[in-house]
Amino acid sequence: MSAALLAPWPYPRWIAHRGAGKLAPENTLAAFRLGAQHGYRMFECDAKLSSDGVPFLMHDATLNRTTNGAQALGATASPTGGDHPWAALSQLDAGAWHSRSHAGEPLPTLENLARYCIANGYFLNIEIKPTPGVEEKTGRVVGEHAARLWQGQAVLPLFSSFRPEALAGAQETAPHIPRALLLDTLWDGCFDQARALGCAAIVCNHALWNKALVAQVHGWGMRTLSYTVNDDWAAQRLIALGTDGIITDRVDLFSPAAG
Ligand code: G3P
Ligand code: MG
Repeated sequence: MSAALLAPWPYPRWIAHRGAGKLAPENTLAAFRLGAQHGYRMFECDAKLSSDGVPFLMHDATLNRTTNGAQALGATASPTGGDHPWAALSQLDAGAWHSRSHAGEPLPTLENLARYCIANGYFLNIEIKPTPGVEEKTGRVVGEHAARLWQGQAVLPLFSSFRPEALAGAQETAPHIPRALLLDTLWDGCFDQARALGCAAIVCNHALWNKALVAQVHGWGMRTLSYTVNDDWAAQRLIALGTDGIITDRVDLFSPAAG
């Protein structure tokens, strides 16, 4: 299959990583607003579950790096987001670690970000980032929530995950929402796995793409995206290879309007 025969792809090329990369506290609404101010119309976020099953945005399994959870919840030196109910997580400060101007910024739920994206016509890549041990459940619950939140919308979010079990869970509860397998290495059977999950795309560590691999993945009917691309030479290489999407921290360097 040539790239021209691929199914239509409604998403823009440029995707702002965790909202606005490192310019604002990652995965907070402040970050998505800043990414939008830089002209971005699609965002990547990381979603996991609270202990009572609320999908919320956070990259790490533990709360230490991006919240004041260690002081506020104090149960252990290294509290895990997935071990606490949303009522407790919603009280944390997810902005002060980044800068004083963002102190008090709360953790958002997936629903908060969905409302923001839908109201503004923005596209969203939801990376399902499960707390270890609850991969399939996280996929199922995120799928249920996304199906409800984007019901009736013309453009749906794009799910992605490094964990095939999470994508399988999302496929069960939201089969109509497109899925992508994230790859940091080309592990044995990865493409068979992606095809078995009905993935619409592969999202690779950008260094893994070359001409032959792009042709192969397009030939299987899947789109080719990259993370996390922060240098102009790398972006130019991926555009020349004919890949379909670029996730970047450098919302200040790359202008989506430039194509
Ligand atoms: O979804 C692309 C990228 O975010 C994957 O890596 O660790 O930044 O979530 P990470
Ligand atoms: Mg991510």
